Amino acid sequence: MNEQFARDVMHGLSESPKYLPSKYFYDKTGDRLFQEIMELEEYYLTRCEFEIFQNSKQEFLNHFLAQSKAFDLIEFGAGDGKKTKVLLEHFMERGADFTYKPIDISANALDSLESDLRHGMPQLKLETLQGEYFSVLSQLDKTSDRTKVVLFLGSNIGNFLRPVALDFLKQLANTLKKGDMLLLGVDLVKDPTVISKAYNDSKGITARFNLNLLHRINSELAANFDLDKFSHFPLYNPISGTSRSFLISRERQTVTIEKLNASFHFNAWEPIHTEYSHKYRLEELDQLAESSGFETVEHYFDARKYFTDGIWRLR
Ligand code: AVJ
Repeated sequence: MNEQFARDVMHGLSESPKYLPSKYFYDKTGDRLFQEIMELEEYYLTRCEFEIFQNSKQEFLNHFLAQSKAFDLIEFGAGDGKKTKVLLEHFMERGADFTYKPIDISANALDSLESDLRHGMPQLKLETLQGEYFSVLSQLDKTSDRTKVVLFLGSNIGNFLRPVALDFLKQLANTLKKGDMLLLGVDLVKDPTVISKAYNDSKGITARFNLNLLHRINSELAANFDLDKFSHFPLYNPISGTSRSFLISRERQTVTIEKLNASFHFNAWEPIHTEYSHKYRLEELDQLAESSGFETVEHYFDARKYFTDGIWRLR
């Protein structure tokens, strides 16, 4: 049993209001459902970032090579690497001297990414790193004069509360040296209707993604959540620029989690908060760069300015 998962579930369901951390969405089924989400018409984020990469890959490379003639491309949470591949292929074509170092907590995810890349891009210099982002980063060679370029894409930073995002970036700054860079992909504040739809798609894939968390608790912690008695409810707040996802108990019920030796009572219509997806304003991002010790080198956008990838350099 995953002890941390058990502790976090115990803790979150004992709180009021109840919550579960969104990082637990990503088991095998969750990974697959997220792949499906990225294909959805309503989920614009992935396609926007893809467009930015297609149009700006050469400019990215120019920035990455501005400090030294070789660099390490370190990716936080690479997933299936589909977007990153656009960059990797272009950098290879240009004969750039770089090593791709994807970091992930999941050895499984890294293994499939590795076999995929070794097969599709045999010339690529690749070093997969398994573990927590910062423990891996702190083990990387500090004396190397190669520029480190950290990729944190897909608006994954949006899952952190805003002050936590700031702490995260400060911690990142601490492990890098002056001149190292960050490529940060962030979803921007926009028409709230567009954002609402992205988290409530018509095919119900996002609902399944959210509900899968209860399924995971059932299978890993021997619980008896009845998935038909909960529904997916996302809510975007245009004042805070934050989308939140909930699972709503459709009736009064008690759920037992055997491996926790505990039962949890739900009132009718009681929510479990499962995810934050924070949207940012551009000025807020510049402020974030400034406060965490970076400077903004350049912003890149898709045609509709829905999404941004910023290149930041450590001051
Ligand atoms: C992978 C965290 C960026 O918040 O948009 C997609 C996850 N949740 N649909 C996001 C997600 C619901 C996604 N991130």
